Order: sequence, then structure tokens, then C-alpha cells
Amino acid sequence: MKKKTILVTGGAGHVGSHVIEALVTNRNNNVISLDNYFNGREENHLPGADYRKGDTKDIDSLITETPDIIYHLGEYARIAPSFDDVEKVFDMNAVGTFAVLEFCRKHNVPKLVYSASSTKFTTGEGSKDKNPYSFFKSNNVDLINNYGNWYGLPYAICYFYNGFGPRENGNGKYATLIAKFEQAYLRGDPLTVVKPGTQKRAFTYVKDLARGIILAGENGWGDGYAFGVSETYSVYEIAKAFGGQVELIDGYPGRLNSPGVSPKARDELGWHPTVDVIDYIQKFVENHPRT
Ligand SMILES: NC(=O)c1ccc[n+]([C@@H]2O[C@H](COP(=O)([O-])OP(=O)(O)OC[C@H]3O[C@@H](n4cnc5c(N)ncnc54)[C@H](O)[C@@H]3O)[C@@H](O)[C@H]2O)c1
Repeated sequence: MKKKTILVTGGAGHVGSHVIEALVTNRNNNVISLDNYFNGREENHLPGADYRKGDTKDIDSLITETPDIIYHLGEYARIAPSFDDVEKVFDMNAVGTFAVLEFCRKHNVPKLVYSASSTKFTTGEGSKDKNPYSFFKSNNVDLINNYGNWYGLPYAICYFYNGFGPRENGNGKYATLIAKFEQAYLRGDPLTVVKPGTQKRAFTYVKDLARGIILAGENGWGDGYAFGVSETYSVYEIAKAFGGQVELIDGYPGRLNSPGVSPKARDELGWHPTVDVIDYIQKFVENHPRT
């Protein structure tokens, strides 16, 4: 059987590392990661993958193979800090993704799978035009759909909801919520929640996101594969689940609620989530009892 060459952009990041972990279990896959280590970490590397350091905007010189499939996750991936980082967001998400699309077009890559953001469907405060991250992610969805129309690019677009789980980064400016709360809990600090705290999110287990995008790579075509749980929790409820002190603070809360999850991924791909975030937090607390 001919080996498949699979490129994962952002393979040293949170979701990308789980995509790689799942792909390398098949010895028939030749898995390459392209990551600029802006937010990726070498500690996320897994045996069996070929890690290349660089920006997607330089994909032409860094990837000399023609992949059978590209899982494109390598973009700037945080909402609140994107106001300060607008130049980076433009460079990594607009310039970088344009280069990936041109690479696919010129090399007739058989399939591009894109990790879009569910913020595209959010209305009102926190909607796609309210912050640089959501704006550029949403523009890329339009651009990929247009490459499908203009050039017949074969693609599948996936929408991730809030990922959580192993290898999540809890430190620094680009930390994500559950890992940040875990770190604060371990230090014995109060958990801080941006007001009003009632903003709800569809927290979805990272391995379920990875399984979803791979299913879309194998059997999905076109736009609209949403990978999110249907049960949402407010950020305040999540903080309370850790059982300690919770403090409400000022800040950018992003959208008020996660948008509803389209059933397309469940209906067409048979995808379903397997882990509830409250159960995950309860296990974490059981494994790290306060003395
Ligand atoms: N995790 C979520 O809840 C979520 C929700 C919606 C969409 N997404 C999308 O899924 C993808 C992965 O998200 P994540 O949470 O794993 O983020 P992450 O920051 O952990 O991973 C992104 C990875 O891409 C790398 N990267 C960024 N720009 C790059 C570029 N131009 N060239 C090469 N590498 C680059 C980073 O160094 C990082 O390793 C992102 O595109 C993100 O927008 C994630």
C-alpha cells in the first residue's frame, strides 16, 4: 500500500499535537508538522512525526513533498490578546493561509482541511467583526470556499468549539481557560472569571476535536463540520466546579454564548463527543486533593 504523506500545520500546538498523535498510529502515514513555535511547544512533540520549524507563509520552501492531505491548524489562535497582536494575526492567519491555499492550488493537493472558529456564527458582542482573531478566521473560511469555487480546490471546513484536555497551555498570555484554572487551583489562588461570568461555552475535549477533523479529512467535503458539545456551561460554573474561591474581574469576555452546533458532523461523519468538561474537572480535583 502506498504511504500517505500528511501535513499538519500547527502540529506542536494543542489540538495539532492530538491530530498528530492519532495519525502516527497508522504506520502507513508519513506525518509532517509545520509549526513556527509562536505558541507551539517542543514538549508536545510525538515520536513518529517529522517536525519542521517555520511559518506557513514559507510553505513553498519548507515542504518539498506534495501531501495527500493538509490539516491546516497553524494559525494565531486566541481571541482576547488578538487586539494587541493584530499584525501577528494578519501575518500568521491572512498571509500564512493564503500561502497554504496557493500551495494547494499549484501542487493540486487532493485535500485541505481547515480548523475554523465557531466565532464565525456568533452574533452581537463578540461576533466575528468584534475582534481581529474572529475576523481573520472568518475571512479564511470565505477565502477557502472561494478557492473551491474558483479553482475546484477539494476541502473540508471544520469549526472547533472551546478545546480542553491534555497538553493545554495554562501559562502566559496565550493560556486557555481550563488549564489556567488548573494552574490557579494548584497554586491555591482564587480562580478569576471575566465579568459577567454568565458567558457560556461549549467546552469540547481535545481528542474529540482531533478525531473530528480526521473524520472530516477522510469523509467530509465542503463547509460546515461543527465539532462541539451540545451542553454548554458558563465560565462561572466551570470555575465553581473546581470548588475554591472565584473572583469576578474586568476584561474582554468575548462572545456572550457559544453559537449552536450544526448537526452536520454528527449526521454525516458519525462524530460524537465523549468527555464532559465537568466530569474532567472533577477527576482533576480528585487527583489533586487540597490538603
Ligand atoms: N482550541 C480551540 O478551542 C479552537 C477553537 C476554534 C478554532 N481553533 C483553531 O484550531 C487551530 C488550533 O488551535 P489550538 O487551540 O491548538 O491553538 P495553538 O496555539 O495551541 O496551536 C496553533 C499552533 O500553530 C502554530 N502557528 C501559528 N501560526 C502559525 C503559522 N503562521 N505558521 C506555522 N505555525 C503556526 C503555533 O505555534 C501553534 O503551535 C487554530 O487554527 C485555531 O484557530 C481552535
